[in-house]
Amino acid sequence: MDEKQIVGEKAAEFVKDGMVVGLGTGSTVFYTIQKLGQLVKEGLSIKGIPTSVQTEEFAKELGISLTSFSEIESIDIFIDGADEVNSELELIKGGGGALLREKIIARGAKTFIVVADSSKRVEKLGALPVEVIPFGYEMTEKHIRAIGLVPEIRLNRENPFITENGNYIFDCEISEYVQPERLERMLNMIPGVVENGLFVGMTDLVITLDQEKCCHVK
Ligand code: 5RP
Repeated sequence: MDEKQIVGEKAAEFVKDGMVVGLGTGSTVFYTIQKLGQLVKEGLSIKGIPTSVQTEEFAKELGISLTSFSEIESIDIFIDGADEVNSELELIKGGGGALLREKIIARGAKTFIVVADSSKRVEKLGALPVEVIPFGYEMTEKHIRAIGLVPEIRLNRENPFITENGNYIFDCEISEYVQPERLERMLNMIPGVVENGLFVGMTDLVITLDQEKCCHVK
């Protein structure tokens, strides 16, 4: 079994009957969702809130009931992958382009569990996606550069990659260390920036594999 599958499936153990579950996006949480689909067939009753169309379609295929924000008071648990995780459990997310919906759900969830293979562990957070509205994105890029990041527009076959919210993404190199919370605030004050992929002070657990190849919960 590969690492993503082990940590992904482990996270499903935290989901209990009756929970509202935020369903993340990506190749690691794929295994969590697949496992939840199996548990649902065996009688588990949950309601899912997907972070992307891809996850929504996958959950539907598996028979997981979905709900919407107008029908719920809160989200019990959110499980998702990450692109980078440091020792403070600070994350960078958005490699799959779903960072805005992921952050809305992470902020609204009582518990946020991250599933990460060992390639995601970093000493220093380094490559940060920033979602921006298309209007004036050239100007927004200048403002992002002015706070010390090195932005590059994400492309999809030579055209700007478009998020499910109709926006663009700048993949930004963090060339000089800035305290993540501060960087998050600075970015979100720039007109045109919709959201960024820093998830600070939100994570309750990170499930990874340790050197003995056991599931490790931090
Ligand atoms: C999508 C994300 C994903 O969680 C992140 O990119 C990790 O993906 P994977 O599990 O495929 O490595 O933030 O926006």
